[in-house]
Amino acid sequence: MSTTPAAPAERKTLILTGASRGIGHATVKRFSSAGWRVITCSRQPFPENCPWEMGPEDHIQLDLADPKIMPEAVRLMKERLKDQSGRLHALVNNAAISPKGAKGARLSTIDTSLEDWQKVFQVNFFGPVVLARGLLDELDRAKGAVVNVTSIAGSRVHPFAGAAYATSKAALAALTREMAFDFGRRGIRVNSISPGEIDTSILSPGTDRIVQEQIPMRRLGEPEEVAKAIYFLCTEQSSYVNGTELHINGGQHV
Ligand SMILES: NC(=O)c1ccc[n+]([C@@H]2O[C@H](COP(=O)([O-])OP(=O)(O)OC[C@H]3O[C@@H](n4cnc5c(N)ncnc54)[C@H](OP(=O)(O)O)[C@@H]3O)[C@@H](O)[C@H]2O)c1
Repeated sequence: MSTTPAAPAERKTLILTGASRGIGHATVKRFSSAGWRVITCSRQPFPENCPWEMGPEDHIQLDLADPKIMPEAVRLMKERLKDQSGRLHALVNNAAISPKGAKGARLSTIDTSLEDWQKVFQVNFFGPVVLARGLLDELDRAKGAVVNVTSIAGSRVHPFAGAAYATSKAALAALTREMAFDFGRRGIRVNSISPGEIDTSILSPGTDRIVQEQIPMRRLGEPEEVAKAIYFLCTEQSSYVNGTELHINGGQHV
């Protein structure tokens, strides 16, 4: 009896914002090592010494702070997905900014300029809205997943993260819930991960004190530990998880 050879497994694709360092960088490594194609977006051009197989065609130089360029960025992304039959398996909205005042001071609700506040929302909140809506058909074709990277600062006042950043992350958590409802009907899961203190350049001096006083595990998280959770939320292991916010903080909020 002859048997039909199994079709080759489809190569999955991730679009990831903010891939050039920190949690995003670790996320590229996690997905690449599992065989995914990763299309990255950040303000930096494609690094010539990039350690992974991807070439400049898998990087989109994009400043999420500029709403005028977003339609063109989405068009480029769709273009890049054409050779994957227009299918997108995961979108990870990771890029964010957290501006500080003079000498690294926290910017409160009183001293954050409206201009800064709007810029933070543009990058941290409206960027994810535009990308997820713009790539809805591609996500639908693959029954893909969206992961929004929120923050512990979105649900409690943080000694270093400013008010604009905190409120943008709270809004992103709410957006996750709304999208889980709207996108879920199309078989697309939408979740968020909320990191605590992860060892990246976004941390402020003085984080050591938080680690000693508030984190039961008494250490910072590693970007790789966050990347593992993002991977879980984008794969079959979490096939019925929708609309949740996964906290990755060593127990900081208990
Ligand atoms: N590290 C933590 O402890 C922590 C805690 C809670 C939440 N988070 C969240 O985790 C995510 C990653 O944080 P991280 O610590 O890895 O940050 P990071 O080291 O500062 O990296 C931020 C990334 O975002 C990109 N980016 C920033 N502004 C951008 C813009 N306007 N347009 C496009 N890309 C932009 C940067 O690339 P370019 O500079 O090339 O543009 C970079 O790749 C963020 O959403 C952050 O809020 C982190």
